[in-house]
Amino acid sequence: AQVRKVGIVGGGTVGGGIVEILERRREQLVAATGGVGLEVKAVVVRDAAKARDWTAPPGCVVTEDLEAVLGGDRRGSYGPVDFVRSGGDRFAHTGDDDVDLVVEVMGGTTLAKDVVFRALRAGKDVVTANKALIADCLPEIEAVVAEANAAQGAGAPRVQFGYEAAVCGGIPIIHTMNTDFVGDEVTRLRGIMNGCTNFMLTKMEAEGLSYADCLAEATALGYAEEDPTLDVGGFDARSKLAILVRLAFGVDVDETLISCTGIAGLETIDFEYARGQLDGTIKLLGVAELDGAGGLTAYVTPALVPRGATLASISDATNAVEVASRNLEASLFVGRGAGRFPTANSCVSDVVACARGALPEPFAKKVGGVAFRSDFES
Ligand code: NAP
Ligand code: HSE
Repeated sequence: AQVRKVGIVGGGTVGGGIVEILERRREQLVAATGGVGLEVKAVVVRDAAKARDWTAPPGCVVTEDLEAVLGGDRRGSYGPVDFVRSGGDRFAHTGDDDVDLVVEVMGGTTLAKDVVFRALRAGKDVVTANKALIADCLPEIEAVVAEANAAQGAGAPRVQFGYEAAVCGGIPIIHTMNTDFVGDEVTRLRGIMNGCTNFMLTKMEAEGLSYADCLAEATALGYAEEDPTLDVGGFDARSKLAILVRLAFGVDVDETLISCTGIAGLETIDFEYARGQLDGTIKLLGVAELDGAGGLTAYVTPALVPRGATLASISDATNAVEVASRNLEASLFVGRGAGRFPTANSCVSDVVACARGALPEPFAKKVGGVAFRSDFES
């Protein structure tokens, strides 16, 4: 039977969830991949001596050594002859224990970028949950994927790259944008794209808890980024918005040019005003819309949402994205936006798609003549 050897870089909230799902659903996933087993060979962490709330499966090392996932090379020897000689085994050319599918869930944009690029250049499939990295350099990553594929021999398996978990945790919005909206024309995206802050806002309003207490609880539940400024400052939502803008409108936007205001400074009294005097609630929204004259505006901001509006009812770490488009008119995607299992679920879904060779090719929808207009430009 074929086996994909999986290496996970990061064994925290998301990494631990991936290990657990792959183990718990082992048999069902073999069926889902069409007979390919998924074996976790290594989990790379910063501190291998630290106690974990997950258990490494048999044959899996927990290590600080990145070479445990980056070692080995799938490139080069995949000509049709080799492919036939190997009995059609798509992964016959890596060493026995070499990882051929890397999942990056460590976060950050420096070492994580090296990990992703090195793995792709070695012909390994890569799955990531890292929206900061994707927002920062998706076009560059796609170029590396294209290069890696050009280096593969004819008949060799395609090098694949998945980032479903990078936007809105468990909501399959990347896949949806890459497939179901192909024939459509998106005119507006609007939504709640950060689970940590939505959890905090829900608690502040419903329980009157302080901003600091709510952030501490969101952190304990695994919703916050390692640096929670990314959440409360709106920057995490901005990264996700920039990724969706690229998929929906075909425009590469430097996310730092998207106007961004976070929730720091909000107090419980603000919810009383919002409710009592304005009959609404406060939500951190990411919005991107065409202006009808070829311009695209985008921003992240806390906003007053009328009580009867759908987005007002989205609570806790749930996310929601409303998509306005020509064919489908109005679509709403709702689901858990943060946390161990919703996020790990999206990573596992990409891993399974890789194992089947079925991850959609990267593609950005091109909308002729759309230009991003930054609020920072005069
Ligand atoms: P986390 O709990 O902080 O886990 C990070 C893991 O990476 C830890 O196991 C850590 O090792 C390891 N790590 C960090 N720096 C490392 C280094 N230099 N070398 C080796 N290992 C290193 O983070 P997380 O919440 O799982 O998030 C991981 C990624 O998923 C981030 O990109 C995040 O934005 C994204 N994401 C998270 C969520 C969520 O709800 N948490 C949702 C969607 C996307 P130690 O454990 O030894 O410190
Ligand atoms: N910190 C992020 C959030 C994790 O709360 O939405 C999921 O991307």
